[in-house]
Amino acid sequence: MSKKGSVVEFDQNWQTRKEAQYNHWIKGQPQNQIQLAFHNHYKVFSEFLKKDGILSGKCLEVGCGRGSISSHFAEHGYSCTLLDSSQSVLETAKHIFTNNGHEAVFVHGDANELAIADETFDIVVSIGLLEHFEDINKPIREQVRILKPGGRFFGYIVPERTDNIQQNFHWLNRILSELSKLANSEEKIRAKQPIYRSDFGSPRYLEAIKDLPVNNVETFGMYPLPMISHSPDFPFSLMPPPLELALTKIFDLSLYVRYSLLKQNPWICQEEIGQAFLLTFRKNNTYLDSYGT
Ligand SMILES: C[S@@+](CC[C@H](N)C(=O)[O-])C[C@H]1O[C@@H](n2cnc3c(N)ncnc32)[C@H](O)[C@@H]1O
Repeated sequence: MSKKGSVVEFDQNWQTRKEAQYNHWIKGQPQNQIQLAFHNHYKVFSEFLKKDGILSGKCLEVGCGRGSISSHFAEHGYSCTLLDSSQSVLETAKHIFTNNGHEAVFVHGDANELAIADETFDIVVSIGLLEHFEDINKPIREQVRILKPGGRFFGYIVPERTDNIQQNFHWLNRILSELSKLANSEEKIRAKQPIYRSDFGSPRYLEAIKDLPVNNVETFGMYPLPMISHSPDFPFSLMPPPLELALTKIFDLSLYVRYSLLKQNPWICQEEIGQAFLLTFRKNNTYLDSYGT
């Protein structure tokens, strides 16, 4: 299994799986758990961008897949560029953007070596990309290189771990998987290509950026909810729409309760609990930093 982004395995999944065609962006109320997740990811990101004053500008998504988070950025007026190593998923993303009335530039490329000039983007974001590299230094260094001074980096990382919230729900996913096999989809479930994922937590990433020109570094857990599916491995398989809708409403309510209790963005949690964690920082503004501000 490749540890440099699992380029081949991803491409095979994108070419063969029906899940590759899912559109995870919706303008109004989320209708399934993944739309709900992207909706909440964007809320967290937009809170940072509001504080930074980065309310427009150029945004690059590295390892864009179907471009679900970029759809949110495009909807909010950012100029989006979507980059992926899979030509196949870029075609899908183009389709999704056209159907949703969004514009973007689509680039076939490698996160280890971005064919992009230094200091090009105001925002660089990746969702579920960095955990697929054994050497995380290269792709992170590349993303910092192409950020403008003062630009914002978001790395949403989904490490391989056995002790987060998901551990309490494997039993339910196993039952759903058995039911799904009875409905004859076993073969399709098995056809998913296994993909390398590291178990690196935030300390490893903080080590990777310690000599880079960045400031305001933060890491925290995100997505304090289980992922419920008969086949949760990548690419995640949604359940039938009525079940997804019911689950979305329950999850939404539980986030509301969490907000009422904690009085903070309920999508943020301890790293140990969440499905993922975020690494975020700003690139140094060379002029200001040289004067120690
Ligand atoms: C887990 S998927 C996430 C997709 C998307 N960001 C999302 O949120 O659904 C990881 C994506 O990274 C892409 N990828 C893997 N290795 C890459 C590399 N070296 N350079 C660019 N993209 C890469 C894969 O093709 C895949 O689309």
